[in-house]
Amino acid sequence: KTFQRDAAANQLLQYAEKREGEKKSITTNSGNPVGYKDASLTVGYHGPTLLQDVMLLDDLSHFTKERNPERVVHAKGAGAFGYFEVTHDITQYTAAKPFSEIGKRTPIAMRFSTVAGERGYPDTVRDIRGFAIKFYTEDGIWDIVGNNTPVFFIKDAALFSSFIHVMKRNPVTNLRPDYDMFWDMESLRPETTHQTLITFSDRGIPRSYRHMHGYGSHTYGFVNHEGKFSWVKYHFVTNQGIQNIPPKEAEKLAGQDTDYHTRDLYNAIAKGDYPSWDFFIQIMTPEQADKSPYDPFDLTKVWLHADYPLIPVGRIVLNKNPSNYFGEVEQIAMDVAHLIPGIEPSPDRMLQARMFAYRDTHQYRLGPNYNQLPVNSPYSVHNYSRDGYGTVNSQGGAPNYHPNSFEGPVNDERAHELAPSIPLHGEAKRIDSGNDDNFSQPRLLYQRVLKEDERERLVDNLVDWLKRTTPAIQKRTIENLFDPVDKSLGNRLREALFGDEGEFHIEI
Ligand code: HEM
Repeated sequence: KTFQRDAAANQLLQYAEKREGEKKSITTNSGNPVGYKDASLTVGYHGPTLLQDVMLLDDLSHFTKERNPERVVHAKGAGAFGYFEVTHDITQYTAAKPFSEIGKRTPIAMRFSTVAGERGYPDTVRDIRGFAIKFYTEDGIWDIVGNNTPVFFIKDAALFSSFIHVMKRNPVTNLRPDYDMFWDMESLRPETTHQTLITFSDRGIPRSYRHMHGYGSHTYGFVNHEGKFSWVKYHFVTNQGIQNIPPKEAEKLAGQDTDYHTRDLYNAIAKGDYPSWDFFIQIMTPEQADKSPYDPFDLTKVWLHADYPLIPVGRIVLNKNPSNYFGEVEQIAMDVAHLIPGIEPSPDRMLQARMFAYRDTHQYRLGPNYNQLPVNSPYSVHNYSRDGYGTVNSQGGAPNYHPNSFEGPVNDERAHELAPSIPLHGEAKRIDSGNDDNFSQPRLLYQRVLKEDERERLVDNLVDWLKRTTPAIQKRTIENLFDPVDKSLGNRLREALFGDEGEFHIEI
């Protein structure tokens, strides 16, 4: 009998094959040769260990610190490297350098993830997937930190930490999902409906990271060489086709192979089956945005393709596995605030808050000089930031204050010209945006996009989670989220949960 091993399983064999004949001596972390790694330095066989055993001290004191805090969300993930290639000219919309000419290639790193589970959580759970791309451009780092869905559950960052809490572990039982927490908050905020329908559709469990689309989700701004401004959304359409895992199979896989999606990505790239996505944009002019019947900056809404068709831009291809997971995937620092001239943020409340949150969390998770780690490192940095833990690039003898008369770095005129001047008005006020039309788009999704068999599976998937919460929360969820989408959706859920006699199936 034989057992078929995949490329991921053969990683060590491959290393050994390549390295044959050039075995190196062990060293301490400071590079001093280690004579004998197999035993600590003791006084006799049973004698105590000596403090002068530098090899042991070096090894253990590094080991005790070899974990960094995991990402507070999107902790479980996988990454790879490749390139973005321009296939269509969009310089009429943006002066951003990666788009400057057809055929141009920009190196990229990508990280895919689940949102709610911890670093070792199974891959094949029902959840949103992160879809984050780091572009290494001539103007420094540009990141698109999106998901595999075009919308999100909420649209105001004031609710973000609460929303994440309800997807994470119950603070008393330490169990997740906690169905009461989840459906309680969902049912109290009907703007969650759109993303909830997507999450509980077939797409809630993708077959792999390769078999799903990606979205920048937020609206961003584009500025062209003449200073003309437009609003833009990013779409990445998978060339592998959309494929999903049926829930029963996913449950089984979660037990059999916790890292199913991670393994799939590694093996596909290792055998030269490089995953790729076609990159499209949607463009909305400021005039169209002013007249739009829906808020173009609302993260719970899409821009209808009929009104704003997909414009082809290029493609992204992943053709290289990380040479080390911790160094290149765990330590990668994606940030929506990493923008380049020609690309601007939008007033989306969620995006505005994210502009703060990522650098803040990276400084905590990876230290103040996380941008100097090789995987995050832009080609060149010249500025007036200095020092702190882990400084690698101390910028030589350049002055550390601005302005100066000693040849320190100066303002970049092109970047200044491309920065738009935006007129702002309004009262400083806390305005709840949660009651803007929450149902037209979910209704389109339910009635027009999903086929009947997909609607049936959606109901089954919703029932599978709803049946575990209390009747009061079940009722409120149906009334606040699903009746307004389509009364027949509400009724299907009611029937499945409460039965023909209107009795609850649940025992508390
Ligand atoms: C990761 C905050 C909304 C996509 C993270 C992390 C934080 C965070 C703190 C961990 C980052 C790290 O440790 O490297 C927030 C806040 C949000 C928000 C405060 C809203 C106010 C969103 C939205 C999306 C998104 C709307 C997608 C459209 C991601 C992705 C990652 C991530 C893909 C993982 C990045 C990676 O692979 O390293 N977020 N997030 N987040 N977030 Fe958000």
